[in-house]
Amino acid sequence: MPVIGICFMLLFKSAGWQCRQSIIAIALTERRCAAIGSSSVAVVHLFEPASGSTVTTNGHKEFKDPEVDQVQDEYGNFLFSDDGTPKIIKEDQDYYDELYNHDGTRKDDTWPWWLPDDATYLDHAGCTLYPTSLMHRFTQDMTSNLFGNPHSASPSSMLSSIRVEDVRDRVLRFFNADPEHFDLVFVANATAGIKMVMDGFRDLPTGYWYGYHRDAHNSLVGVREHANSARCFANDDEVEKWIAEEDEDTTSTSARLFAYPAQSNMNGRRSPLRWCSEIRRSKPCTYTLLDAAAFLTTGCLDLSNHEEAPDFICMSFYKIFGYPDLGGLIVRKASGDMLTRRKYFAGGTVEMVLTVGSTWHIKRDGVHETLEDGTLPFHNIVALGHALDVYTELYTSPRNVSAHASALAKSAYDRLSSLRYSNGAPVCEIHKDSLASYDDSTTQGPTVAFNVRRPDGSWLGKSVVEHAAIQHGIHMRSGGVCNPGGTATVLQLSPQEMHHNYDAGQRCGDTNDVMGGKPTGILRISLGAMSSMEDVDRFVKFMKEWCVKQDGAGEVPTVPVHLTPKTGFLKVKIMHVSGAEKSKGFRYMLKNITSRSLVA
Ligand SMILES: *[C@@H]1O[C@H](CO)[C@@H](O)[C@H](O)[C@H]1NC(C)=O
Ligand SMILES: *[C@@H]1O[C@H](CO)[C@@H](O)[C@H](O)[C@H]1NC(C)=O
Ligand SMILES: *[C@@H]1O[C@H](CO)[C@@H](O)[C@H](O)[C@H]1NC(C)=O
Repeated sequence: MPVIGICFMLLFKSAGWQCRQSIIAIALTERRCAAIGSSSVAVVHLFEPASGSTVTTNGHKEFKDPEVDQVQDEYGNFLFSDDGTPKIIKEDQDYYDELYNHDGTRKDDTWPWWLPDDATYLDHAGCTLYPTSLMHRFTQDMTSNLFGNPHSASPSSMLSSIRVEDVRDRVLRFFNADPEHFDLVFVANATAGIKMVMDGFRDLPTGYWYGYHRDAHNSLVGVREHANSARCFANDDEVEKWIAEEDEDTTSTSARLFAYPAQSNMNGRRSPLRWCSEIRRSKPCTYTLLDAAAFLTTGCLDLSNHEEAPDFICMSFYKIFGYPDLGGLIVRKASGDMLTRRKYFAGGTVEMVLTVGSTWHIKRDGVHETLEDGTLPFHNIVALGHALDVYTELYTSPRNVSAHASALAKSAYDRLSSLRYSNGAPVCEIHKDSLASYDDSTTQGPTVAFNVRRPDGSWLGKSVVEHAAIQHGIHMRSGGVCNPGGTATVLQLSPQEMHHNYDAGQRCGDTNDVMGGKPTGILRISLGAMSSMEDVDRFVKFMKEWCVKQDGAGEVPTVPVHLTPKTGFLKVKIMHVSGAEKSKGFRYMLKNITSRSLVA
């Protein structure tokens, strides 16, 4: 009986034999899926043992099924030498290197093995991928410790409290923020952090003036609705001029808040971080809110100089670590009272409250103590501690991630911008800001925003491209990406045109792709720590094969394609491991393992 072999390696550690040598292979016979294992001590029976087909691999093959005498991997390599010892083949070696440290210790299940084989994930600006090991460590912690609600004296409660404060401290250190000068407020996400700043300012007796940059995400834009007056800065020049200009009213004690994204979530353009310190020096009573959500996926934020730092920085941790769904607001303590004077209080933020017969309360001291309403998402905070560990182990520091993602983005940008149809017409119009360069990570993050044209120069609808991409396993983003100012600028949409489009039926997330001869939204790919050159290759290949080769008339799905969860994973149950008594029957999810490694 022929054996169709597929090989997967290294799913368990064996005692007494160098880990680097262990192999688990899966043999697919005509009858059924079977698993064999190999290490000096592992004896792994077939999933549903067929008579006589047990494979013992004490370093030697022993195929009891006379018809099975070799196992091949998916490339046709034989896994055993003639003398029966397992062979290490080239692909294995790369894979070992990826899974093992130089000293032979396991790097842990690092890469996202759960990602479907055919998935090309290019939406790191939306949420980056979480390492498998992070999930394992979190689960391990959760199932071996009892975490109680942090508001009591019980050991379970104390454990949660200690973890929360430890993680708070470590997050600050991750950004080189001295806890003496900064505090971290845990919030649900970056948007919740922005709202917390807004709540502080709107409760000021004199209200506030609000300035925001064109590139602001909707969550920042909405802050204008509570301001006495607001101004949208249409470009960097306007900001620089405003910073430099003489303050007309230096006696005003009315507060001002200036907000901008460190990186545009639309096209990845990065704005100067120096604005924060310049504003502090030149504008009295003016505070800065930096939206670092998109930036931190791959950017380095160094708060070691507290004099130069933004007053408030909001972030979403899942955009940095992939998990947990949690956000943070880093507050410069010197500016903390702008937020702590807010009127609202909640469980956790007060020392004493009178209700019956009197309405008196006294708030707690400290920034996060006054602002963290109700019970903290303490399980998520526990997970965040593991996220910090795993991130540092995998990537060393955000600088490595930044360099890696920038190199990939540059390649994507170069290749997409040079795509041409047979008539010489360009395929992609890339929305790179004129001040940004893919060679300089202080001006550009690893995001490429673009629209696609047909050979005759007309626009190909964004949802047409996105649906075709989905069919090719590509996960990307399209639309206005919650960035009205940035999108309108690059697409040259005037307010009148946008009003007109709205009246004509355009709504957020719909498929009115081109209206009045202009695109209504953009396409966006974004890269992260776990992206590989292979991802970029696959995307460029898709654009070439779907779009260019067919002269812009690639197969266009007529109905929206909905993502369906990947099915058909091969599940293997290993019945006996390490020659020991019947083991519990591990279940592994297996996939085609592709080599993913950091490029410099
Ligand atoms: C993010 O924050 C907003 C604003 O507080 C909130 O409405 C939303 O539910 C939060 N999302 C998650 C996933 O917690
Ligand atoms: C991170 O960068 C440092 C300095 O460039 C380098 O020594 C280190 O090997 C890098 N780590 C990883 C995981 O790439
Ligand atoms: C598995 O990966 C190899 C190497 O990248 C590739 O040649 C092969 O086509 C992949 N198989 C599947 C089923 O994706």
